[in-house]
Amino acid sequence: MKKLLIVNGPNLNLLGRREPEIYGSQDFDSFLQTLRQQYAGRAEIDYFQSNTEGVLIDRLQQDGYTADGIILNAGAYTHTSLALADCIRGITSPVIEVHISNVHQRESFRHHSFLSPACCGVICGFGLDSYRLAVEALLNA
Ligand code: DQA
Repeated sequence: MKKLLIVNGPNLNLLGRREPEIYGSQDFDSFLQTLRQQYAGRAEIDYFQSNTEGVLIDRLQQDGYTADGIILNAGAYTHTSLALADCIRGITSPVIEVHISNVHQRESFRHHSFLSPACCGVICGFGLDSYRLAVEALLNA
């Protein structure tokens, strides 16, 4: 059984209510419940969300040496945070960067990620299924 952690960054607590035309109308808790059921017996999926950069870093440092994999949607910090990139480089658990939307189809400021070079892979554009695809990748690793 693999120990996985999903970490969501700023504004992702608003999923279901936030710009549903971009991020869909499902809230993350109900999605997570289904995901955990789908992978019962194969993965133990822990979950953490914060709107604060340093708090995200604290949690990545806390689990980043013991988790078998981390799925990180850092929200807008993806495009701004050298501190999160350094954190990912400093921990040993593999980190997959995920995005719900296809950031490359959107504004040009979303095309650059500080995190991608530090992550083992990137999945974006498949709605909430991006997280499931990341679970699959970590289980097959
Ligand atoms: C996002 C894309 C980011 O550009 C944006 O700031 C988010 C969500 C996504 O999941 O599509 O907050 O990470």
